[in-house]
Amino acid sequence: MKPELGACYYPEHWPEAMWAEDAARMIATGLTWVRIGEFAWSRMEPQPGNLQLDWLDRAIETLGSAGLKVVLGTPTATPPRWMIDKHADMLAVDEHGHPRKFGSRRHYCFSHKGYIDECSRIARIMAERYGRNPHVAAWQIDNEYGCHDTTVSYSVPSLQAFRHWLADQYGSVEALNTAWGNVFWSMEYASFDEIDLPNQTVTEPNPAHVLAFRRFSSDQVAAFNKAQVNVLRQLTDAPLLHNYMGRVLNFDHFEVGANLDIATWDSYPIGFLSDRLEDDDAHKIAFLQQGDPDMQAFHHDLYRAVGYGRWWVMEQQPGPVNWAPFNPAPLPGMVRLWSLEAVAHGAEVVSYFRWRQAPFAQEQMHAGLLTPNNRPTPALSEARQTADILSELGEVLQVQARVAILFDYASDWAWAAQPQGAGFDYFRLVFSAYRALRRAGLSVDIVSKHDISGQYDLILAPGLATIDQDLERRLQEACKLAILGPRSGAITHDFQIPDTGRPGLGALDCEVDLVETLPPTVERPVQGGGAALHWVDRLSGSAADLLSFEDGTPALKGNSGLWYLAGFPDETLWDRIILMAAEQTGLRVQTMPPGLRMRETADHVFLINYNADPVIWDRKTVPGCDVAILKRNPPGQI
Ligand code: GAL
Repeated sequence: MKPELGACYYPEHWPEAMWAEDAARMIATGLTWVRIGEFAWSRMEPQPGNLQLDWLDRAIETLGSAGLKVVLGTPTATPPRWMIDKHADMLAVDEHGHPRKFGSRRHYCFSHKGYIDECSRIARIMAERYGRNPHVAAWQIDNEYGCHDTTVSYSVPSLQAFRHWLADQYGSVEALNTAWGNVFWSMEYASFDEIDLPNQTVTEPNPAHVLAFRRFSSDQVAAFNKAQVNVLRQLTDAPLLHNYMGRVLNFDHFEVGANLDIATWDSYPIGFLSDRLEDDDAHKIAFLQQGDPDMQAFHHDLYRAVGYGRWWVMEQQPGPVNWAPFNPAPLPGMVRLWSLEAVAHGAEVVSYFRWRQAPFAQEQMHAGLLTPNNRPTPALSEARQTADILSELGEVLQVQARVAILFDYASDWAWAAQPQGAGFDYFRLVFSAYRALRRAGLSVDIVSKHDISGQYDLILAPGLATIDQDLERRLQEACKLAILGPRSGAITHDFQIPDTGRPGLGALDCEVDLVETLPPTVERPVQGGGAALHWVDRLSGSAADLLSFEDGTPALKGNSGLWYLAGFPDETLWDRIILMAAEQTGLRVQTMPPGLRMRETADHVFLINYNADPVIWDRKTVPGCDVAILKRNPPGQI
């Protein structure tokens, strides 16, 4: 499959007379896909049952007959105003007990049965009309689940559904009391009907209660999505997809992805740098107009796994966005760089958000490929350049990486429920591991605990909350060396300290005797260089000490196939550990210049330079904000 480009388009925002010209201009830019419809419910059904789809028929026909393939969105992220009158209790409720009102988007609770039925109804109406339309080549269900912190809702429908879910999970309330340790503080329940949602408690609620609620909330997202999948599958053979987000972990994307055909995600590199990363000012200034050199790649690799191999960028940042604390413009070349980087990681399609900047409402400060009055922005010509490069490049085949990271959404929920140290965060820890692998010039796969297929030299599973014997065995079978810790195997499924101790591994005699967390300015230095930050597991056991802290206590223990890491490593410590792992496994590593990243595909090596200035590497100059695509010669080798 040759990678292609697209754009997000809102025909309902523009006079119909503009549609054909827009379509022709998209084709002239080299775009072949257009996504429409995902927020247009109030125009599809202005009053309950009053369906107005003629305009959508004409929009699809105009775009399709111009040569574009349409991704049609179900509009369920934006229920129209009348829906709230029809289902007064459908709004999500925040942790303070306040309904989240109409007037923006995503104003629904995933547990509201009446709203789920409305979504199935509109999906059916659309699929009956367009399911076999030759121009509709894919369907997007809803838009960005979890955006604006909407996965969790403390509503009455949510409470009722949670009680049923708990009864299903635990069978008896006695079993739940035991599993959660409710004898503590006399929190025992006599029936499932007594159990409330874990908000507005006097002090922190039981973390087992919180984790169960997070699991439930995630399941509700998957079930909500599945309801529309079930309708669409009967009426179309086109692939079904959803657009996920950057660093949004509030539901298990692998579960949602299992019911879809393609994972897509929305990539806003400059917005993420200022809005979603903990890095210091020097880093944020160095990459202010480029974005972090690893953040996009991490999500590309994650969503390749969530899509079980098939993934796209559905929304690619084209210029300044409107939602981050600061919104600088990309440096020249960056839109092309981001697009090519996505392709290097296996994107089938990169689609820009949005075709033309809206002159009204919340996102009027958000750039598009065109200005509101239809003049080209720099991103338009970079899209055109990208299309030309892609047509020369042809197919970009992926190969399995030599290293993988195990990513687990439930670990994030667990550690958010009981952080113990203010600097400890699951994503932050995993991302620090990912960055270290990329500094070593490695291409990385991401795997889930349910699907560790493939054979790797090395798998990193930092912060993995719960490990049982089966997972320990599967991990070891999938690689020469697995590195766990810190805070791995630290709790049971129900948030108790395992009775086997922590991390409770069968194959490694290593036990966590106590846990310390550190303030951000304090480090725990390691002999020979590097330090642990935020979190330190104090280890004992007969497994060899591979690294020690300066006070002589173990920083890394292990045997030939399994290592346990005591602390949250700083960059130097991660780099040392990756080098040691490479020596043990025969993995080939190299030190990349700062801001230069490498991705290997079957036939090419992509050198991606996030710096504003050129970088010379391996006798090859890569210009600033640019990508060098080298042929692997002979095929299969660098
Ligand atoms: C995404 C969303 C789009 C638009 C965009 C702005 O999160 O899916 O609808 O809001 O952000 O950057």
